[in-house]
Amino acid sequence: MGFVDFILGHHLFVVIIHFKKIGEELLTPTKIYTEAIKPLLHSNKIKAIAHITGGGLLENIPRILPDHLAVHLNAAEMNIPPVFAWLASVGNIANHELQRTYNCGIGLILVVPKTSVVEVLALLKHTNDARVLGTVRARKEAAPQVVIDDAAFTLNIRNVQRNLLTPKKRVGVLISGTGSNLQALIEATRDSAFGSHAEVVLVISNKDNVLGLKRAADAGIPHKVISHLTFKDSPSPREAFDRAMTAELEAHNVDLICLAGFMRILSAEFVRRWKGNLVNIHPSLLPKYPGLHAQQQALDATPRDTHSGCTVHYVDEGVDTGAIICQEMVPILDGDTEDSLTQRIHKAEHYAYPRALRSLATGNTICKC
Ligand code: GRF
Repeated sequence: MGFVDFILGHHLFVVIIHFKKIGEELLTPTKIYTEAIKPLLHSNKIKAIAHITGGGLLENIPRILPDHLAVHLNAAEMNIPPVFAWLASVGNIANHELQRTYNCGIGLILVVPKTSVVEVLALLKHTNDARVLGTVRARKEAAPQVVIDDAAFTLNIRNVQRNLLTPKKRVGVLISGTGSNLQALIEATRDSAFGSHAEVVLVISNKDNVLGLKRAADAGIPHKVISHLTFKDSPSPREAFDRAMTAELEAHNVDLICLAGFMRILSAEFVRRWKGNLVNIHPSLLPKYPGLHAQQQALDATPRDTHSGCTVHYVDEGVDTGAIICQEMVPILDGDTEDSLTQRIHKAEHYAYPRALRSLATGNTICKC
């Protein structure tokens, strides 16, 4: 029976070969977590801390455990950066060897009492990718102190290896404005340790001069304005506009479309063309508050909602009705305004959308949010 939960932050020091040379990857400095965990240091919310350095998971974790305790890691939940999967296959490295040499994507371990998990995650999840990845349990005599299910670890690493052999998904992002979610997607897809297996190859905006277009330009990503107004005299303006977008998306061989603040309702024809490869992010915990002003709808609810959040979902022919891929919750605080709640939800969106994209692009049916 677990009596203490166990939180792991992902380590960003190793990256894979697609954007940098291997030497650059290996020389990227280790991520330091001191600032992030400072607010927790003098509380009793952390029982132990281990930085996972040389010696990997198997040799570093026992340093913070008394002999009678063991840590059980959930291997299916680990986000193994592609470089480790690559090393394992080119070096023919067995699981045990990999786990006792590398951090396998886990940079820091905090042992946290169950009662503090929610609070610790609230501080570290969206900013440092902290997540609950295991439990601390009584150790059986002579049993190892770090237990990682071999079959689950193998399956995980094989999925990463399979993706290394297939082309990345080509993503088109549709925007109408600021594009902060676009930015989050660009950064995540360019962080090779994140392993999104996707690249943003095209940005389309239906409005000119919006910040999102500048973000695309700064990132060197092809971008185009297709104004819906151009089609206003067409017999079916919505379909004509959507067909122009489809033509551009097809010309860039887009596999997957992410709507990111795209303020147009799409035609049934467009939705059918891209079905299963068309996703949106919405600033509420759907099915609550679809449509416009979702944040204000949450603030106006009676009785008052204690939480709001965001939802990444497939797009179907309804408004914000498609199947849910993942959701992230944020609290609604006393005195919240539409603006303050929007800011808080945005942080959750920038966490959730890249992870949802990763699960779609890597073929993982469960989103590891
Ligand atoms: C986000 O809140 C998203 O949920 C909604 O539109 C907003 C876009 O923000 N669909 P940004 O343009 O990504 O900053």
